[in-house]
Amino acid sequence: MTTLAVEEFDDRVVVTLHRPEARNAINAAMVAELHDVCAALEAEPRLLLITGAGGTFAAGADIGELRDRGREQALQGINRAVFDRIAKLPLPAVAAVDGYALGGGAELAYACDVRLASPAAVFGNPEPGLGILAAAGACWRLRELVGASVAKQVLLAGRRLDADDALRFGLVAEVVPAEKLLERAHAVLDRMARSGPLALRLTKLVADGGGHPLTDDLAQAILFESDDKRARMDAFLAGGRS
Ligand code: COA
Repeated sequence: MTTLAVEEFDDRVVVTLHRPEARNAINAAMVAELHDVCAALEAEPRLLLITGAGGTFAAGADIGELRDRGREQALQGINRAVFDRIAKLPLPAVAAVDGYALGGGAELAYACDVRLASPAAVFGNPEPGLGILAAAGACWRLRELVGASVAKQVLLAGRRLDADDALRFGLVAEVVPAEKLLERAHAVLDRMARSGPLALRLTKLVADGGGHPLTDDLAQAILFESDDKRARMDAFLAGGRS
């Protein structure tokens, strides 16, 4: 890995975006390495924590590379595809955002299931200023996260959301001092890790699919037959608490 620092644990993988010379801008090498991380997490489902090095989450897609891309590359959805893959990972992803999360950096954070921010976090989608649109998820994912009014302010009026805005609009779960950000993100992952892994996985699958009485019942039918469910409910009834 040249653009990511990856730490692997039994129940989670921690990915730190690391291109300090370009404010962690997302280039083709980083996209390829994020795909490698996704492949590992698909093969062996674990939680994911994504953060950025050096007081920046990511200052967008790499503009030097974007400038030289044409219609064919746009149609490949290079960044969109890897963000979608992250969003569809079997188990949840948490973004810990310190500093700028702009353009594709913001879209990467939007693709995660939960976001935490430091007081220095700034979310924005300045793509139209570069003559392009935010095509890696912001146009629909941001709207789902904060509603059409705020999304349009960000997408059309160049509004940047600081940490207080992001908290108020529900984009982030918490604002935590930078020095405590990773600790707090790990605490969120710890809470997730205490859930039944299959229950967490099926909940994400069903919830991301928008839920439906049929899928809800089928997923629940799988879980109701699991040894894990019986063990957890027995433990509860015996006085243990999860
Ligand atoms: N792509 C490529 N390089 C980038 C980059 C990006 N998205 N964002 C920053 N960099 C590079 C800069 O070109 C600069 O390189 P240099 O030192 O060789 O000149 C280096 O990172 C540091 O950036 P700089 O602008 O000097 O840092 P700053 O702290 O003053 O400002 C930002 C930080 C994030 C506000 C500013 O870099 C910025 O606006 N970046 C682009 C944001 C953007 O439009 N993203 C959407 C892309 S689709």
